[in-house]
Amino acid sequence: MAAAPAPVSLGTPLSSAATRVLLLGAGELGKEVLIALQRLGVETLAVDRYDHAPGHQVAHHAHTIAMNHPAALEALLRRERPALVVPEIEAIATPVLQALEAEGLLRVVPTARAVRLTMDREGIRRLAAETLGLPTSPYRFASSLDELRGAAEAIGFPCIVKPVMSSSGKGQSWVDSPADVHAAWDAAMAGGRVSHGRVICEGVIRFDFEITLLTVRALGADGQVETRFCEAIGHKQVAGDYVESWQPQPMSAAALQKARDIALAVTADLGGLGLFGVELFVQGDEVWFSEVSPRPHDTGLVTLVTQWQNEFELHARALLGLPVDTSMKSPGASAVVYGGVDAGALVFDGVADALRVPGTELRLFGKPESFVKRRMGVALAHDEDLATARSRAKEAAGRVRPRPA
Ligand SMILES: Nc1ncnc2c1ncn2[C@@H]1O[C@H](COP(=O)(O)OP(=O)(O)O)[C@@H](O)[C@H]1O
Ligand SMILES: [Mg+2]
Repeated sequence: MAAAPAPVSLGTPLSSAATRVLLLGAGELGKEVLIALQRLGVETLAVDRYDHAPGHQVAHHAHTIAMNHPAALEALLRRERPALVVPEIEAIATPVLQALEAEGLLRVVPTARAVRLTMDREGIRRLAAETLGLPTSPYRFASSLDELRGAAEAIGFPCIVKPVMSSSGKGQSWVDSPADVHAAWDAAMAGGRVSHGRVICEGVIRFDFEITLLTVRALGADGQVETRFCEAIGHKQVAGDYVESWQPQPMSAAALQKARDIALAVTADLGGLGLFGVELFVQGDEVWFSEVSPRPHDTGLVTLVTQWQNEFELHARALLGLPVDTSMKSPGASAVVYGGVDAGALVFDGVADALRVPGTELRLFGKPESFVKRRMGVALAHDEDLATARSRAKEAAGRVRPRPA
C-alpha cells in the first residue's frame, strides 16, 4: 500500500499541535530512534513488554504491554492515536497494524505490509526469491520433523535450520548430517518466537564476508521517494548474534553494485518511508540476499560514530518526510558489551579505562536486567584506519567489566 503523505510540519510536544510518534519496542535501537525524534521536537511514546526498557527512559510517555497480544495492542493504539507507529521489534501483532493502517487511523513505518512480511522468514524469502527473482541460498520450508528430513535431503548437507519466526539466531542450527536433523527440529521448536511449528532449511553460502547495506527511502525535493545507500557495514556473527561491526566494508565495485541493486529491488517492493537493513552475503563479485529489517539494524550501531547522520537519525528524518544525508564522516567500528552474568541491575566497572582508548565512545543501554549473552552496551571507535578502529572498539569493550549490583 502507498504511504500516506508524510507530515510536512512538526508540532510542539505535549501540546495539541504535537507530532506524536509511537515506538513498538524500546530497546537500544529504539532508544536511539527516540533520541533522534526528541531532537526534532517530536512527542514520543515508547512501548515495550517490560518496565524501564532503554527507550522508556528517554521518551515522553512509557507504556508496558504485550505487543504480540492483539487486543492489548489495539486498545493502546486507539487510545493514544499516534500519527506514526514505528516497529522496532518483530514480535508484534501485525494484523492489528494492518487493520488500523487500512482504517486510516495511523501510518505504520515503513508500511504495515512490510512489517508483516519481514517478521516471517517465509514471507520475505518468497518475496525476494520467487517474486523478485533475487539470488538467495537454496531453501525449503517444513512443518514437521518428517518434512524437515525431506527438505534437508533435498538441500544437502551441511544446511541451516531456522524457525520462520525468530531473530538474533534463536532456535537456529547448523545441520551436518541426517543424524542432526531431529535435534535441529527440536531446537527450532524451542527457540522460535511463537510455537509456529514451521522452519526454513537453507543451503550454506560459503561467503567471504557478510554485510548490512543500510538503505533509506526518503522524500526528495519533488515529493517523490528517493533511495539512498550508506556505505556497506561488515560484521561478525557468533551463534547468530552480532559481536562486532565496521564501516566501510571493502568490496569490489561489481559486488557493491549488485548489493545496491538487490537492496533497491527489495526495499522498493516493501515501500513506505524509512531506513532498512539489508543483509547480504558476498563472495568475490557474487552477492546473495539473506534477509531485511524494515528498521535500523543492530550492526548499524557503528554509524553512531561513522556517519554525519547515524542510522537512527536517518530513520527518524525519513519517516517524518525530511531529507537525509547518508555520507560517512570517518571509518569506524563497534564491539558489543555483554552482560556476562545473569543478574538484575548491574554495575559497570572499567568505564574510564575503556574511554581512555583513543577515539572511542561507549553506549550503556540501561537495561534493568542482565543475562550472560544479553547485549548491555556497545563500544564504538573511529579512526582513518579501519583495522585500528576495530581493535580499539574491541579493546574498549573488553575493558568494561559488568558485575551484579
Ligand atoms: N544460508 C546461510 N549460509 C551461510 N550463513 C548463514 C546462512 N543463513 C544464516 N547464516 C549466518 O547466520 C547469521 C544469522 O542468520 P539470519 O538469517 O540473519 O538470522 P537472524 O534473523 O536471527 O539474524 C547470518 O548473519 C549468517 O552469519
Ligand atoms: Mg540476520
